[in-house]
Amino acid sequence: MSEILVSFFSASGVTKEVANKIAEYTGGDLLEIEPVNKYTDEDLNWHDKTSRSSVEMADSAVRPAIKNEGSNISDYDTILIGFPIWWDLAPRVINTFIEENNFENKKVYVFATSGGSSITNSFNTLKNTYSNINFISAKRFTSSVSRDDVTNWII
Ligand SMILES: Cc1cc2nc3c(=O)[nH]c(=O)nc-3n(C[C@H](O)[C@H](O)[C@H](O)COP(=O)(O)O)c2cc1C
Repeated sequence: MSEILVSFFSASGVTKEVANKIAEYTGGDLLEIEPVNKYTDEDLNWHDKTSRSSVEMADSAVRPAIKNEGSNISDYDTILIGFPIWWDLAPRVINTFIEENNFENKKVYVFATSGGSSITNSFNTLKNTYSNINFISAKRFTSSVSRDDVTNWII
């Protein structure tokens, strides 16, 4: 099952914890999507309209630079992409990651963590933006994600 890649972005660690468990339960490899400029607490302040995350999420064209440009996803048939939901969407670094890699002939699953928002809108937005990608399904998890939650979803 090592042809599964569990790629994820996590600003404050919750999605990272979930990604680690998903990799453990699926036998997949992990790939952390890291922004060149890490998000500080100030950057993440959604109460401040001028914070970095607020500015980025208000502009669908923003593509923050990531470190793993051209990371090798070609060895994998199945790619999971995980993120924290921001403003009911995937953070813009996810768009950067998708646009810098080739997802042709890949099965793509999406997962997220959030304060409560469902994954529906962020997933539909990704599907509409990248209609050429074979998105299979999406699921929101909490940090108490169990082995059954994952294997019932993906295997
Ligand atoms: C800028 C920003 C926007 C957010 N927007 C939402 C939202 O629209 N809905 C929601 O349920 N949670 C929202 N959250 C909460 C995060 O999705 C949640 O805390 C997530 O588990 C954080 O994951 P991480 O630790 O991997 O970064 C937001 C958090 C931030 C920082």
